[in-house]
Amino acid sequence: MIVPGVLSFSHALVRQAVDEGGIAIDATAGNGHDTQFLAECVGPAGKVYAFDIQQEALARTKQRLNEQGIANRVALIHAGHHEMDRHLPEEIRGKLQAVMFNLGYLPHGDPTIITRPETTLPALKTSAVWLAPGGVLSVVLYTGHPGGQEEAEHVLQWAQSLSSQTFQVMHYRLLNRKQAPSLVLVEKRKSAA
Ligand SMILES: C[S@@+](CC[C@H](N)C(=O)[O-])C[C@H]1O[C@@H](n2cnc3c(N)ncnc32)[C@H](O)[C@@H]1O
Repeated sequence: MIVPGVLSFSHALVRQAVDEGGIAIDATAGNGHDTQFLAECVGPAGKVYAFDIQQEALARTKQRLNEQGIANRVALIHAGHHEMDRHLPEEIRGKLQAVMFNLGYLPHGDPTIITRPETTLPALKTSAVWLAPGGVLSVVLYTGHPGGQEEAEHVLQWAQSLSSQTFQVMHYRLLNRKQAPSLVLVEKRKSAA
């Protein structure tokens, strides 16, 4: 397939921003796919911080990482991503090579526990500040569940408002699939140091 799906496209883009030994955040650990992906990108010398408000999600993520033998490069944090600056060490401010958000609800979990604009937006704003020059912020948006459309609109509005002197912002979606997820990718310019 030449036209990539949203998840594989986000991985392909994020991979380019993350070096071995780098630092990355998974803001919505869920079943741990993105946490595993980031842990593989940063390698044994790197560090990933993964957040989720559900213990169940963190347990699934931990199991996945253990199976791959890469749990020691990941800190699992049971907290909302809007509180990330309270949980991250101050010395990594401005050094994040990637922050990934996969919004919505935990697949095979409680569909009423969803990400919400009132916490997603503050988390995105903090992430943009903590990004390294050249770092990327990826946000996968879903509109098929109650509240998803509203959240997607808030995220898009925020992304469009970012200064083009500091950020390059992209929105990617498949046009011929109803309620397909879409991807917002925010890159902090290297000159933004
Ligand atoms: C779509 S899932 C993430 C899927 C995950 N990236 C994966 O690879 O499997 C969304 C996750 O966001 C979590 N979540 C909801 N609100 C949150 C918040 N304020 N802070 C952190 N995580 C949150 C949910 O508990 C759920 O596990």
